Parts: sequence; C-alpha cells; structure tokens
Amino acid sequence: MEIKKVGVIGCGLMGAGIAETAAKAGFPVSVREVSDELLKKGRTRIENSLSRAVEKGKATPQDKEAALVRITGTTKLSDLADCDLVIEAVIENMEEKKKLFKELDGIVKSSALFASNTSSLPITDMAAVTKRSANFVGLHFFNPVPVMKLVEVVKTVVTSEEAFQTAKSFGEKLGKTVVVAKDTPGFVVNLLFVPYLLDAVRAFEKGVASREDIDNGMKLGCGHPMGPLELLDFVGIDTTYYIAEIMFDEFKDDHYAAPPLMRRLVAAGFLGRKTGRGIYEYDEKGNKK
Ligand code: 3HC
Repeated sequence: MEIKKVGVIGCGLMGAGIAETAAKAGFPVSVREVSDELLKKGRTRIENSLSRAVEKGKATPQDKEAALVRITGTTKLSDLADCDLVIEAVIENMEEKKKLFKELDGIVKSSALFASNTSSLPITDMAAVTKRSANFVGLHFFNPVPVMKLVEVVKTVVTSEEAFQTAKSFGEKLGKTVVVAKDTPGFVVNLLFVPYLLDAVRAFEKGVASREDIDNGMKLGCGHPMGPLELLDFVGIDTTYYIAEIMFDEFKDDHYAAPPLMRRLVAAGFLGRKTGRGIYEYDEKGNKK
C-alpha cells in the first residue's frame, strides 16, 4: 500500500493540524468540512499555524506557500474518492462516526486505508460498519498537531499487518514518533492522562490548593510545559469530559468518573480557552486574564 494522497474529514483544531502536518510532509491533502464557512475558518487556522512556524524558524515562507498549495478544501465527500488514506477528525460521537464511515466506504476506492483520530472510542466498532475492516486503524494525534511529536497508531484485532505497517510508516513520514497501541479505551496516552486531569479537578474542587498552585506544582515540580488545569482548558473541558465518560462506560471504574465541577462547567458552556472561560478566564486572543 502506498499513500500518495491524503483525505482529512473535519477542519477543526485536530483536522486542521493533521492536514497542515501532512501537507508539510509533502502529501497532497483534501480536507472536507460541512460548510464553506467552516472550511474558511479551518484554512485560516492552518495559515496562522504555518505563519507561526515561519516566525519560529521551523519553516521557510516557501515551505508555508508550498504546504498551502497542497491543501484543497471541499464540502463534498466525493472529492476524497481517490485518496489512499482518509483520516477522520470529527466530533467524538460514535453514531456520527459510523454514519460517516459507512458513507465513505461507498465513495472512496476500496484499496484505501481508513483511520480515525478518535481519542477513546473503539476503532473496531467503526471498522465494523465498513467492508474494509482489515484496512482500518486508529491514528491518534495530539494538540497542537504540528508541534506535538507523537502519534498513536492503533491496531485492532482485525487490522491487517500491511495496513498497520502503512499507517506506521505514514506517521513516521510526518516526522512523528509512533507509539503502537491496542484498541482499548484511551489507548496509551489518554489512559494515563485523563485520570491525571480529573484528579487535578478533584484536588481543586476539594480546596487542596488554588488553581495557580496546582498548575505551578506540576509545572515546576515535575517539569511539565503546562499545569493540569490550564491543560484542561487548552484541550477543552467538554472534550475531556466526553473522553472520561467513554472510559467510565467501558471500565466502570470511579477513577474515570468526571468530577461534579467538570459536569457543571460543561453545562454552563465554560469549555476552556475556546469559549473564553473554563477553569481560568481568557481574552479574545486566548491569553489568560
Ligand atoms: N508549527 C511548528 N512548530 C511550532 C509552531 C507551529 N505552528 N508553534 C510553535 N512551534 C514550536 C516552537 O518553535 C517550539 O519549538 P522548540 O521547542 O524547538 O523551540 C515549540 O513548538 C514550543 O513553542 P513555543 O515555545 O512558542 O510555545 P509555547 O511555549 O507557548 O508552548 C505548547 C505551547 C507547545 C502548547 C506547550 O505549552 C505544550 O507542549 N503544552 C502541552 C500540550 C499538550 O500536552 N498537548 C497534548 C494534549 S492531549 C491531546 O491532545 C490528546 C487528546 O486526545 C485529548
């Protein structure tokens, strides 16, 4: 299997990052969004990130232009028909994903590899709605995708060795380090990371320390680039909440249960940096107030 052209479904935070990273690595990319407005937003996100890469000396202005030329936006799934790999990065909702993959299965050439960027939903369940379950893997990227050096490649019990090796080599071509995981909730990283974030909220809820002290504790005491509460705002309180719910459903273990404060922040629409308020408050540029 050779990956020549990549399709990305969704141009939100993760989809845009995946499209940008694949384009920077030299792949032509078709990225699909549901509306022109969302496509425009996604393209701006990619342009801003590429400009930042130039500012930081990680890319030249020519690299930026070349990457942008390789990315084509579309609202039609049929424009992805000739892709060799299609990566899904839509909302973390199993029914939505199954519906999408079922449709894609009838559109995209049968030899193409399908991948989901899900952080915790079972890949095997998505593969089962297609006629290409052997050609189906998880490719789990980390936010911000152009910066974070890891991708988890998830091999299900049905994934063929050839499909798995192709996905692994694709991850490496993107310049990422590949971690191989089984299709279990949270894979490797979120299995360890999500309970850590939930415990930080529990500590804050119990009044163990202020939000700043909890974050400084982990930043300065353990050398993390961000403390758990600011990281929670960065990832999205809703996203983390949904992942926790999925893991709790699977394991029935309190360790994965979202704390009451988190539930209430989601209900109130305080979802973190993206809504201007989460555990912290942010200005329009996303800087902490
Ligand atoms: N393109 C390429 N490189 C870029 C870039 C871009 N758009 N923007 C920044 N960089 C590079 C910089 O050059 C710098 O590289 P260097 O270390 O070689 O100098 C590095 O990225 C860091 O950039 P900055 O110093 O400018 O940025 P900050 O210091 O503000 O760091 C951060 C920002 C990278 C987000 C850092 O705070 C961080 O690593 N935070 C933790 C993020 C994290 O944990 N993400 C994982 C979340 S979990 C997840 O996604 C899984 C999901 O399922 C929940």
